[in-house]
Amino acid sequence: MATEGTKMVKAIRVHEHGGPEVLKWEDVEIGEPGEGEIRVKNKAIGLNFIDVQIRKGAYKSATLPFIPGREAVGTVTAVGPGLTGRDVGDIVAYGGNPMGSYTEEQILPASAVVSVPSSIDPIVGASVMLKGMTAWFLLRRCFKVEAGHTVLIHAAAGGVGYLLCQWANALGATVIGTVSTEEKAAQAKEDGCHHIIINTQEDFVAAVSMITSGKGVDVVYDSVGKDTFQGSLACLKTCGYMVSFGQSSGAIDPVPLSALAAKSFFLTRPSLFHYTEARDELLKAAGELFTNVASGVLRVRVNHTYPLSQAAQAHVDLENRKTTGSVVLIPDGADLQGCKPDDVSI
Ligand SMILES: NC(=O)c1ccc[n+]([C@@H]2O[C@H](COP(=O)([O-])OP(=O)(O)OC[C@H]3O[C@@H](n4cnc5c(N)ncnc54)[C@H](OP(=O)(O)O)[C@@H]3O)[C@@H](O)[C@H]2O)c1
Repeated sequence: MATEGTKMVKAIRVHEHGGPEVLKWEDVEIGEPGEGEIRVKNKAIGLNFIDVQIRKGAYKSATLPFIPGREAVGTVTAVGPGLTGRDVGDIVAYGGNPMGSYTEEQILPASAVVSVPSSIDPIVGASVMLKGMTAWFLLRRCFKVEAGHTVLIHAAAGGVGYLLCQWANALGATVIGTVSTEEKAAQAKEDGCHHIIINTQEDFVAAVSMITSGKGVDVVYDSVGKDTFQGSLACLKTCGYMVSFGQSSGAIDPVPLSALAAKSFFLTRPSLFHYTEARDELLKAAGELFTNVASGVLRVRVNHTYPLSQAAQAHVDLENRKTTGSVVLIPDGADLQGCKPDDVSI
């Protein structure tokens, strides 16, 4: 029951690490925002593979119980005492820290959110904040992709992957993507992959060698981890960049430095949280992302939507590689004003 100054909202909460069944649909208490904080009523919430990993306990998370989720767009419903620059009614987005977006309403630091331009549909915004800013820092900060580069992108039809492909193509790179099925290959082609390798049908290392006439690629963006890491290194040209930014297939075995010495490789294991820690970098990331969405450089794919209460089913589908593009959770009764129902089926 809500106490004075608080109210009850519906949220997905995790009390113990485990399978999708640990995602419980519960009533939780929410208070008033404190200093530097705002309260936000979510319109749409992005689903990310990191949510699965945190649910399982594969990544460190907040102490149990916790509300998962790191990506959403919503309306500001209250601002903390003395806060300026934010008003009730503002439409804001966030992607990254803090965790806790699988809820109808949440308290956030005002410094974690950005304004959503009116040209950006709220569901579209929620589907690309974390994924699109990840594509931004990978392509614009970790390794600056330019025309003439050849890039290898694993899980090219996945949430981060499809945005990486579109953006790398727009930057003038030759894009090689790996996927597991013909259906995903068709999407990756539409998203700007010049060469697509179906890794369940052919060895991706041999295929990359053939495509690049044995030279190798300038950079690999590897989100798959355990199953691909060694092969990804083998695809690099001399002095190539290995950007290992995820482990969808599991934790990567320890890598000896001698593995990099073989061809003077660079290796990084980056996190979005560090690249958007500074407010000006967060604004730059979100600004470039929204500009590219508005101009059509990025063609956002909200391929799957689920009611927030059915987050467990969304996790099952993501883990079983059944999803492509962005996946979005919608709270019951969310105000979807501004959303384009023709583009998004709920
Ligand atoms: N470092 C960062 O800051 C950062 C930020 C965002 C995301 N990430 C990481 O990037 C990865 C992708 O995230 P996402 O949300 O966009 O997910 P996603 O790519 O939409 O989903 C994962 C995809 O990985 C591929 N995959 C390969 N082996 C798999 C396995 N054993 N189990 C499940 N999937 C497997 C599948 O594509 P195929 O069927 O085509 O192989 C699957 O669709 C995650 O590991 C995530 O943690 C990191």
